[in-house]
Amino acid sequence: MREAALDLRRVLEAVLDGIVVIDGAARIELLNAEACRILEISEEAALGAPLARIATTRGALETLARGVLGSGRACIESDHRVRSRFGEPMLIDVAVSPLLEEDQRTRGAVLVLRDRTIARSLEEQLSERERLSAFGHMASGIAHEVKNPLGGIRGAAEILASRATDAKMRDAAEVIVREVARITALVDELMIFARGEEIRFAATNIHRVLENVLQLLAHDALAQGVRIERRFDPSLPELHADADRLVQVFLNLARNALQALNGTGTLTVETRMALDHRLALEPGASAGTLVVMLADDGPGMAPDVLDWLATPFFTTRPDGVGLGLAVSRHWVTRHGGTLRVESAPNRGTRVRVTLPLGRDGRAAME
Ligand SMILES: Nc1ncnc2c1ncn2[C@@H]1O[C@H](COP(=O)(O)OP(=O)(O)OP(=O)(O)O)[C@@H](O)[C@H]1O
Ligand SMILES: [Mg+2]
Repeated sequence: MREAALDLRRVLEAVLDGIVVIDGAARIELLNAEACRILEISEEAALGAPLARIATTRGALETLARGVLGSGRACIESDHRVRSRFGEPMLIDVAVSPLLEEDQRTRGAVLVLRDRTIARSLEEQLSERERLSAFGHMASGIAHEVKNPLGGIRGAAEILASRATDAKMRDAAEVIVREVARITALVDELMIFARGEEIRFAATNIHRVLENVLQLLAHDALAQGVRIERRFDPSLPELHADADRLVQVFLNLARNALQALNGTGTLTVETRMALDHRLALEPGASAGTLVVMLADDGPGMAPDVLDWLATPFFTTRPDGVGLGLAVSRHWVTRHGGTLRVESAPNRGTRVRVTLPLGRDGRAAME
């Protein structure tokens, strides 16, 4: 009998899905490590607890389980959306089947929970990477073609300005020089999407990066009147990253938030670790991702604005270029990370950046 119990335990731990066994009153009798991870509960706290109590935000799980206990029929729910304790969206598939007594009465149920969050985000990353790389190709092609004639135009306009015989002509020539300089700067900005752009990895303290950004903004008129709240996890390991690029990333994101807040409200900057699903890891790798969250309680975005965000040059601000988010996403992707924006009208905006920690706490990708 002991042998059999031991075997069951081993089998449960070997399964990559979360398994929860409940009794007829929907109390937890048994669960494996993956279920503990998904439900964010320790085994000790879970055993004997009613499903409803531990899964506070997931009342739907209990409803599902009660349906099966009542009907004795299995049910499956795909793409079940839940929120983690930190409020992050998770996507899980749930299958519930009845556990029958020998006399066919239902004595409980087995819940199989499959975390699809990682699989879904890998799919999204892939298509995002393809889109960015296509844009990078196009941008660097255009940049090259545009830059050469710009040099010629600028030179010619400078000659005109220096030889102008009256003020009106000199002003006109100077306008050309100035506007050409503006286009050149824009083209240079586009060049960063060219794939070969240099990136220098070194041991990087994420909090130093963020303090640097907040300090740069402290003197900006944009930040006046806005409360800035830091929620840093001091135990985070160092990243293997390009600190200058990360400053650029978070400066863009924080500026967007401050522009949205327009002098009132709170910008929260939070850091923490997130545990990855075992499937997403190389064997032996430590399971860690660093998460930086920038949340503002500004006006948020309408769904159609949200749809356009990934497109370079999309802007709703009269003086915006529409490159801030595209550039940020580009550098985060080059670090092997992800950038996700969650927003709704009047609900504020949360930008979640993940940066991978590889073996011994270094970013996994170069
Ligand atoms: N925190 C936010 N709250 C509300 N809207 C936002 C936020 N961040 C971005 N947006 C919307 O996304 C658009 C694109 O942002 P992005 O940073 O790419 O360009 P931009 O800020 O308009 O111009 P720039 O190139 O100067 O950064 C913005 O114009 C704005 O409409
Ligand atoms: Mg911006």
